[in-house]
Amino acid sequence: MRRPVAALVIVLAAVGVLTGGLAWLLDTPKVPLGAPRAERLYLGLCATCHGSDGRGSWRAALFLVRPGNLADGERLGRRSDQYLVDIIKHGGAPIGRPGMPAFGSTISDAEIEELARYIRGLAGKR
Ligand code: HEC
Repeated sequence: MRRPVAALVIVLAAVGVLTGGLAWLLDTPKVPLGAPRAERLYLGLCATCHGSDGRGSWRAALFLVRPGNLADGERLGRRSDQYLVDIIKHGGAPIGRPGMPAFGSTISDAEIEELARYIRGLAGKR
């Protein structure tokens, strides 16, 4: 094979591996069929950082995000419902914890409350 052609093939392969790798990395977990709305929201919006079980995703660690452990019942027990709703709605920035994004403009208040309840349920699982 002539040099330029070989170089082109190598570059194309590298781009393919890179984009494929990124797609795999940023993919969200499969949502079970007929899952309740809160679970679908959680897996779709939150699991990238918090992991599908709430313990934090290693993918988040790759991006130096430290989402904490939502499945820690003792820790969550110290949080009020209002705190959970506020941090989901407004993000962590207003309370000096900027790692947590705000979802107030993405989902409704009712959905946020469902998510807060869903998170409390994570502690009981596994
Ligand atoms: C971009 C990554 C990211 C996404 C997406 C994300 N979070 Fe977070 N979240 C964080 C980080 C990082 C923290 C910890 C902030 C800190 O302590 O500085 C956090 C903190 C929290 C906390 C507070 C936990 C505590 O003990 O104080 C709750 C509750 C929470 N997230 C819920 C959610 C929910 C629900 C969603 C989906 C709607 C979500 N997060 C999506 C990164 C994320």
